[in-house]
Amino acid sequence: MRLALLGPPGAGKGTQAARICEAFGLPHLSSGDLLRAEKLKNTPSGKRIRDYIDSGRFVPDDLMISIMRSKLVSVVRQGFVLDGFPRTLSQAESLTEMLASLESPLTGVINLAVAPEVLTRRFEGRRVCPVCLSVYHVDLMPPQREGICDHDGAALVIRPDDMPAVVRTRIETYHYTISPLLEYYRKARLLWDVDASGSVETVWSAIEAHLLEIGR
Ligand code: AP5
Ligand code: MG
Repeated sequence: MRLALLGPPGAGKGTQAARICEAFGLPHLSSGDLLRAEKLKNTPSGKRIRDYIDSGRFVPDDLMISIMRSKLVSVVRQGFVLDGFPRTLSQAESLTEMLASLESPLTGVINLAVAPEVLTRRFEGRRVCPVCLSVYHVDLMPPQREGICDHDGAALVIRPDDMPAVVRTRIETYHYTISPLLEYYRKARLLWDVDASGSVETVWSAIEAHLLEIGR
């Protein structure tokens, strides 16, 4: 299965991608996690990425596509779940070409739709593990021990781009770029809209049922 997850910041892309990957044994390629890993390296491209992410703006397409290309090539035979990529029409077109050349087209694109007021609550309580990158929420998806990752015992942190001013820019950027992307995948008959306003379990049940159906 080769899937891409779309949705506004905080929609639950990372949360649901992790579920899909665990259930179906697929690699998880999160554009945000890949960029944050690059950002930590003290290289010229790491510094360039930092400026974009920390201000909530998109990293330029050429840089994002080249990072994703190198990862995709190494996992494509196993299938994959893309989380946060593509985000622009140009990224989507490059992805189509890339996967066509690897004879591995997308199986489907899942669009997680969430009302803005629901997103605000999700952002306010998000905590992440800096080691294994697991995502939690202080009320909605708490770890077993407050502030501690269930998997490796690391202290959970707040993502620097979850500051309210940066979140505003991220949401505005999303709304500015999403329509042509949705149109592109709708025309390709790959898009599947999911109401992602419910609980993690409710959203996961809908996704799992759909994936089992298309996997038959
Ligand atoms: P990225 O890391 O992808 O951030 P994002 O798209 O803004 O999405 P988030 O990770 O914030 O949210 P999510 O949808 O994964 O939700 P989550 O599962 O965490 O990208 C960061 C930056 O990198 C971008 O701003 C940009 O600068 C750059 N970038 C990334 N990709 C790029 C690209 N392709 N091109 C150019 N630049 C790019 O859930 C959120 C919270 O809600 C969590 O606390 C979770 O526990 C909770 N939660 C999740 N689902 C539910 C639910 N159903 N009910 C209750 N709580 C829930
Ligand atoms: Mg995420």
